[in-house]
This record gives sequence, C-alpha cells and structure tokens, in this order.
Amino acid sequence: MNIILLGPPGAGKGTQAKRLVDERNMIQLSTGDMLREARTSGTEMGNKVAAIMDAGELVTDEIVIGLIEEKLAGDAGGGFIFDGFPRTLAQADALGELLARKGARLDRVVEMQVDDDELVKRITGRFTCGNCGEGYHDEFKRPKTPDVCDVCGESQMKRRADDNEESLRTRLMEYYKKTSPLIGYYYAKGNLKGVNGLGSIEEVAAEIAGALE
Ligand code: AP5
Repeated sequence: MNIILLGPPGAGKGTQAKRLVDERNMIQLSTGDMLREARTSGTEMGNKVAAIMDAGELVTDEIVIGLIEEKLAGDAGGGFIFDGFPRTLAQADALGELLARKGARLDRVVEMQVDDDELVKRITGRFTCGNCGEGYHDEFKRPKTPDVCDVCGESQMKRRADDNEESLRTRLMEYYKKTSPLIGYYYAKGNLKGVNGLGSIEEVAAEIAGALE
C-alpha cells in the first residue's frame, strides 16, 4: 500500500509515519529528512538548500523529485509512506508518473487536519534525539528522564533551525498557498481521506488506521 500523509508543518506526519513503519513494515520517505541529511553531509545540494529551509520556503521541485525518484528505485517493503511530499501540484504529477512507471499506484492520501494555534504549540515545543532520531515534545511527549532518549539512552537532544515562530509563519504560508491545493487535486481523484489530527498521538493513529482500511 502506498500512501501520502498530507498536512501542514507540525500536523504529526513524521510521528505517525514512524508508527506505520513499526506496525506495518512500510517505508517512510520524508523529503524533509532527506534534505536535512544532505545538509549535514555537506553535499553541494545540501549547501544550496540550507538557507531556503531555514527561511521556511520550499526547495525546488526538481531537487525533491530527484530525491524521491532515487528512493523509489529501492525496496518497497510493505509500501511507501510519502511524508512531506508532494508539496506542489508539479510534485503530485511527478509522483503519479513515477509510480505508474513502476507499475504501482497511490492507494490513499490522508489529510491531517490541525488548526494553526495547535501547530505553533507543537512546532515550538519539538525536539529530537540527535543519535537515533526519536521525536519528543516539551509538553506532549517528554522523555522519562530529562534529556535522555527513551529509545537509545543517549543525551544528544536537538532542535531544528526552522522551528522558530518567524520561519514557521513562512512555512504555514507556503503550505496554504502551494500545498493545500493538493487537497482538491486528490479529492477529485477519489483517494483523499481527512482525519482529525487534534487528538492524542494514539487517537490520531487510530483515525489513520480507519482511513487506511
Ligand atoms: P519537513 O521536514 O517536511 O517539515 P514540515 O512539513 O514542516 O513538517 P514537520 O516535520 O515540521 O512536522 P510533522 O507534520 O512531521 O510533525 P511531527 O510529527 O514532527 O520540511 C522541512 C523543510 O524542508 C520545508 O520547510 C522545505 O524547506 C523543505 N522541504 C521538505 N519537503 C519538501 C518538498 N516536498 N518540496 C519542497 N521543499 C521541501 O510533530 C510535531 C511535534 O508535535 C512533535 O514534537 C510531536 O511529538 C508532536 N506531536 C505529533 N503529534 C501529536 C499529537 N497528536 N498530539 C500532541 N503532540 C503531537
């Protein structure tokens, strides 16, 4: 099964994608993670996108489509979860073509609906383990021992450079201008399901499970 988790910054796409990976052996394809990895490894492309990401703007379609194309050539496991991709109509068209070339299709687009006040709370409180990538939140998901990762036991918590109010404002505007038109695009194709992303992490996971049935 191939699915898209569609939603604004902080909607919980990454959190829910990781659960689906654990529960269904699916493969998470997060363009945000791929771009952050390119930044830290200091590649030419990574250096090129760093300032764009920190400002909260969208990286070019050409770069992100190229990243996804490379990953689609690999093992599909229990199916792909597209997390943060597509974000423009051009990316959505490209994804359709890439899947068709593989003889695959998109089974479901899950739109995670969360209001702006909650998004600001989630983004400004977010931190992750720099060693294993486990995600946490100052209020909603604290590690059992402060600053120590529950999963790997390391103390290397970090916060993203674009998780500040100014860049979040730009990220939200980019979402409403360029990504939200995808809701109509996939509705017209008949594979869109909206879920209420405002409950607890477990409640949202249950909603998504229902949407995937
Ligand atoms: P990206 O990394 O994709 O960021 P994003 O879309 O802004 O999404 P986030 O990762 O911020 O949020 P999320 O929905 O995954 O929420 P999370 O689960 O972490 O992109 C970053 C940048 O890369 C973009 O701005 C752009 O520059 C570039 N980029 C990436 N893809 C691109 C593309 N396709 N085209 C062009 N440019 C691209 O949750 C957030 C917090 O809330 C966490 O702390 C979590 O613990 C908590 N939380 C989650 N769910 C709940 C819940 N139900 N209740 C309470 N807390 C919750």
